[in-house]
Amino acid sequence: MTIQEWPNFTGVPEEEELSRARSDTQDLARWIWWNGELREAEAQTVHYYANALHYGTAAFEGIRCYPTEQGPALFRLREHVERLAQSARIYGMKLPFDAERLCEAAVEVTRTNGIENGYLRPLVFFGRGPIDLRPKRECPVHAFIAARQLGTFLGEGALRNGVRVTVSTWRRFHHTMMPTMAKASGHYANSVLAMHEALDRGYDDALLLNWDGTVASATGENIFFVRGGTLYTNDEASSIVPGITRDTVLKIAKQNDIPVVIRTFTREELLRADEVFLTGTAAEITPVRELDGTTYPTGRRTYGALFQRAYLRIVTGHDPRHEEWLTLVG
Ligand SMILES: Cc1ncc(COP(=O)(O)O)c(C=O)c1O
Repeated sequence: MTIQEWPNFTGVPEEEELSRARSDTQDLARWIWWNGELREAEAQTVHYYANALHYGTAAFEGIRCYPTEQGPALFRLREHVERLAQSARIYGMKLPFDAERLCEAAVEVTRTNGIENGYLRPLVFFGRGPIDLRPKRECPVHAFIAARQLGTFLGEGALRNGVRVTVSTWRRFHHTMMPTMAKASGHYANSVLAMHEALDRGYDDALLLNWDGTVASATGENIFFVRGGTLYTNDEASSIVPGITRDTVLKIAKQNDIPVVIRTFTREELLRADEVFLTGTAAEITPVRELDGTTYPTGRRTYGALFQRAYLRIVTGHDPRHEEWLTLVG
């Protein structure tokens, strides 16, 4: 299928319309779901000897809430909660709540706070304990779901104009070193180092390579590229977090007969690509306009824009084929 034959996405909010409707702050919501009940968020505290604070032993998720005609809806809630449970399990955390309860809690906290365009942050962590590295034996497990406003994540105009990305000198840790598919707090020190480096060099985000020079991902997003009408991305063999947004893009491609290749790839292939874009719950589908001096097209007549519009159509309830991905909050 050529780009001209792409289906006409009527009813998709234009980017301008979307960003107008969104908050440009990340205001925190008043209520937090905290170990089983809704409480005043600002009144909650974490002990200074919480194991998670010292050793990064927490697992978390990020879930978006979007306005739909039926009221606010959480996107792919169940998949996020299941990934949280898997991340926790790998770190030996026995969750005091099952997936069902966590899904209900996510709905409760969204509804109570009156969130429309927002972001939920479920987080489970090892609490107070002695100075040792056996939290699964010694420390209680706590869980919360915090809510906040969230607009465009990677800065003003990122969805429309794309971002500038640099290859970090920090490499992505390998899946033989850490369970890379898990979203665990301690893993993000790697991303923070890379992001700080990008910031110091004047870029919006960093791309991390693996030890062998193949591409892993950006600091908090998966990477896709397009070449000759084929969509490429990597998988967990490249030590990525296999994102739920990535999976959504792959399903959109399949539905529209866009050829997809999933394999490891190199930085050079990105430099030869027709287009590059990033995917993540927070970043949604963000085009890359530059990678270390190499520029790519952005704008309406790109695959990135078309995937972005298809995605926005799904998350805002305009695509009846994917209603099962939306959990209505109202
Ligand atoms: C390192 C990393 N890769 C990829 C992703 C994208 O995952 P998802 O699309 O599920 O948000 C994230 C964000 O959660 C991430 O932190």
